Amino acid sequence: MKTYKIGVIKGDGIGPEIVDEAIKVLDAVSVAQGFNLKYDEMLLGGSAIDETGVPLPEETIQGVKKCDAVLFGAIGGPKWDNLERHLRPETGLLGLRKEMGTFANLRPAMVYDELVNASSLKPAVIQGVDIMVVRELTGGIYFGQPRELHEDEAFNTMIYTKEEVRRIAVVAFDIAMKRDKRICSVDKANVLEVSQFWREIVEEVAKDYPEVELSHMYVDNAAMQLIRDPKQFDVILTGNIFGDILSDAASMLSGSIGLLPSASTGKGVGLFEPIHGSAPDIAGQGIANPLATISSASMMLRYALNETVAADRIDEAIRKALAEGYRTGDIGDYDAKEICTCTEMGDIIADY
Ligand code: NAI
Ligand code: MG
Repeated sequence: MKTYKIGVIKGDGIGPEIVDEAIKVLDAVSVAQGFNLKYDEMLLGGSAIDETGVPLPEETIQGVKKCDAVLFGAIGGPKWDNLERHLRPETGLLGLRKEMGTFANLRPAMVYDELVNASSLKPAVIQGVDIMVVRELTGGIYFGQPRELHEDEAFNTMIYTKEEVRRIAVVAFDIAMKRDKRICSVDKANVLEVSQFWREIVEEVAKDYPEVELSHMYVDNAAMQLIRDPKQFDVILTGNIFGDILSDAASMLSGSIGLLPSASTGKGVGLFEPIHGSAPDIAGQGIANPLATISSASMMLRYALNETVAADRIDEAIRKALAEGYRTGDIGDYDAKEICTCTEMGDIIADY
């Protein structure tokens, strides 16, 4: 039987609660589909600080490299907020992403039919939305040198190399091939040289994918179009800063932060995590929504392990649970038949 080694980082706050439910679901689906998952638990963030004194222990850095994929909850919380910057939980997470070389951030934004009323937009506008934002994660203005802050001026540098643009474009085109075969590349080519360069390289990569329809859009228009008519998009391909902003905007189409997964992939091992944080305000109460983390586990099966059928089964189980009216508190106002705890939701999905 095929065996995969999964790194598990539960983290802080609601992290352990939601990751436990995802593992419950993974266990059920792996038995049903006939493969084996072996878990290796690792420390990161606040819990790592408490146990080892640092947010990213060497053991974790080495440990993730030996895994086929890493499933992660969330880190951080008020307990560690007053530490110096290099000792804070968030520094641990940024360091881990860097160590793992994950240059592609995949952020799906889909609207479940059962939750069309949970969004702040009209149901007719968002029903059927299914977008994948592919964001470049390790380049662009967030990392460009030089960067300096002075009394009278400050500056950052937006820089992309040919290889950086090419590899993220390849990720987007590969994903588009498995979806509706449409990519909208988002930039600011009317103002930025970096964007003109980006366009040329994306056009070049597109030649290898004749079946995929490529369009380009300026980022300001893209922000507008996401709110006006989000159904026009299939895959959105964009750089680091534009993707940061657009993926957060797109995520709100779905209604709750507790629903959406993400994946960071690249050269080596991929990191799969919900888009939300550690929600210290509800930690330990058993009311967190585990669906974002369960969806992240599904993305892990699909993109890291190529277990597509198992991933489809999880996605289907989530839809079924919502269709039957099961809701956690965060989405409880929308056609709920029953308000579930975190554990109950995990049980329901695992049982399908
Ligand atoms: P957050 O995403 O943790 O929470 C925002 C709001 O959404 C809260 O009211 C929370 O209760 C609710 N919420 C989040 N996830 C939920 C879920 N699964 N079910 C139900 N409700 C949910 O963001 P916030 O409050 O800004 O940050 C809290 C801590 O998390 C901070 O220490 C922050 O640094 C950290 N953080 C960690 C991230 C990560 O580990 N990737 C990402 C974002 C924040
Ligand atoms: Mg963000």
